[in-house]
Amino acid sequence: MDVSLNKEPKWSKIDHLFIALAENDLQLPMRSLQKLANESGFRGRSDEALTLLADEPRKVTLIGMGKKDKLTMRAVRAALYAMAKIAKKQRDRSIAVSVPYELPDLDAEDSTLVVADYLSQSDYKYDAYITKKDENGNLPISATVIPINGVAAKRLKQLDAEARALRAGVRTVRDLGNAPPNLATPAFIAERAQEVARNAGVKCTVYGKKEIERMKMGGLLAVNSGSTQEPRFIVLEYAPKKAKKHVALVGKGITFDSGGISIKPADRMEEMKFDMCGAAAVIGTIEAAAKLELPVKITGAIPSTENLPSGSAYKPGDIITMMSGKTVEIVNTDAEGRMILGDALHYASQLKPDHLIDYATLTGACVVALAGEAAGLFSNDDELARKLIECGERVGERLWRMPVWDEYQELIRSEWADMKNSGGRWGGAITAAMFLKEFVDCPSWAHLDIAGTAYTEHETAREGRGATGAGVRVTLAFLQSLSRS
Ligand code: BES
Ligand code: MN
Ligand code: ZN
Repeated sequence: MDVSLNKEPKWSKIDHLFIALAENDLQLPMRSLQKLANESGFRGRSDEALTLLADEPRKVTLIGMGKKDKLTMRAVRAALYAMAKIAKKQRDRSIAVSVPYELPDLDAEDSTLVVADYLSQSDYKYDAYITKKDENGNLPISATVIPINGVAAKRLKQLDAEARALRAGVRTVRDLGNAPPNLATPAFIAERAQEVARNAGVKCTVYGKKEIERMKMGGLLAVNSGSTQEPRFIVLEYAPKKAKKHVALVGKGITFDSGGISIKPADRMEEMKFDMCGAAAVIGTIEAAAKLELPVKITGAIPSTENLPSGSAYKPGDIITMMSGKTVEIVNTDAEGRMILGDALHYASQLKPDHLIDYATLTGACVVALAGEAAGLFSNDDELARKLIECGERVGERLWRMPVWDEYQELIRSEWADMKNSGGRWGGAITAAMFLKEFVDCPSWAHLDIAGTAYTEHETAREGRGATGAGVRVTLAFLQSLSRS
C-alpha cells in the first residue's frame, strides 16, 4: 500500500484509524478516544483486536501487541499485517496507523521507519496470474503513518522518501522472486533490470552468451549448458558525482534450480523458482539507493541462468576452468550457485571496490542451521561484519555470523583440480562460502546466504507467502551509514 508520514492527518479523509497498543499501556493519539478505549475492556494482549465506532474517523481499531517491556519487532509486524487484513476485508481506501512506541534499541525515527516500511508491504500479493481477482484484494489502500513522538517535523520529508524508496526496492524483489520460472528467465531478469535502471537513472549493461564466452566465464557457461535459455551477465552501475565509497553487490540469479544431472527430489522443487532472489535483491537495493540519491558508487553484478539436466548439461566428474583461471572438479551439479558466483565475484573483485557483498540462496545447510530467522553471514572483514549485523538489527533483518576459517578449505580439496564444487554434508553453508572465497580478491567481502530468509513457504502472522525482499533493507541501511561517515 501507499504510505506517507503525517503528524496530523485530515481525519475527515480517513476511513479507518488503526492503533497498535501494548498491554495496559493505552496511548491514544486523540483524547476523544481515551474514554471510549478505557470503557471498551480492551487490554492490549497480543491477538486482541477491537473495532470501535467513533465520529471522525468513523472506525477505530485497536490491536494488541502484548507487554510493553517485551515489545518486539515481530509483534509490531504482526500487528501491521493484521491491520492490512482488516482494512482489505472492510474495503477501506484510506487508513491511518499509529504504533506509539519506540522499538527496543531503536530511536523514534528508526521505529517510525520500520512501521512505514512493513506497513507498505502488508497488503502485498502477487496476483498477476489470478484471472478471477479477489474482490477485496485489489482496491488500492493509502495509509498515513502517524510518527512516534520524538520525530522532528523537519525530518518527516526525508523519512517519507526513505520509506518510499524501500517500498519500491522491496516490491521489485518480491515481484521478481514470485514470478513463475517460465516467465522469469535470465533474459526476463535482464529486461527488468534494464527497466528499473532506466527509471532510477542507473546504467545497465547486459551481456549475452557470446560475450560471456569471450569473458571466459566458465562457471556460468557450465551451469547454463543444460538449458535452452541463454545465460545473461547483468551489470548495473550507479555512479553519483560525490561518491566517497564504491560498493559492489553480486547476486545469484538461478531462475530455476532443478539440481541439473544431480537432480533434486520432486517434492517442493517448485520453490526453486526463488533461486534468483539474490539477483533480485541486488536490483531492488540499487533501485532504492538511486532513488534516495545516496552518495555512494554501487556496481551490481548478476550472473543468471537456469540449472537443468539435458544431454548437453555439465555433469559430475567434469573439470571446469573458471574466469579467474582456477579449475573446479564438479562432484554435484546441484552446487551450481557457487559456480556462477565464482565468476561474478572474480569480475567484481577486478573493479577494486571498497566493499564487496554477495547475496545468494546458496545452501539448504544454512536453512538447517538458522531456519527462516536469520541469514548466514560470512566475511573476511570483522568491521564490515559488525556493521552489517548492526544495520540488520535496526531494520529487522537478522544476520548470524559463521566462520570462514582456513581449516575448512580441506573439505573442498580435489585430487584432480584446484578444488571441488561441494564439500559434502558437514558444514555445507561454510564450505560453500569457502568456495566463494577462492574467487574473492577484496579485503572487505561479505557473503549473505539468504536461502532461509528470501522466501516463506507459508503465510505467517507477519507476512504473506513467497519472496520477502531479503537483503534490501539491511543493505540500504549499510549504504546509508557509508554515506554519512
Ligand atoms: N538453491 C539451492 C539451495 C537452497 C536450498 C535454497 C533450499 C533454498 C532452499 C542450492 O543451489 C543447492 O542446491 N545447494 C545444495 C548444495 C549441495 C549440493 C552441496 C544443497 O544445499 O543441498
Ligand atoms: Mn542447487
Ligand atoms: Zn541453487
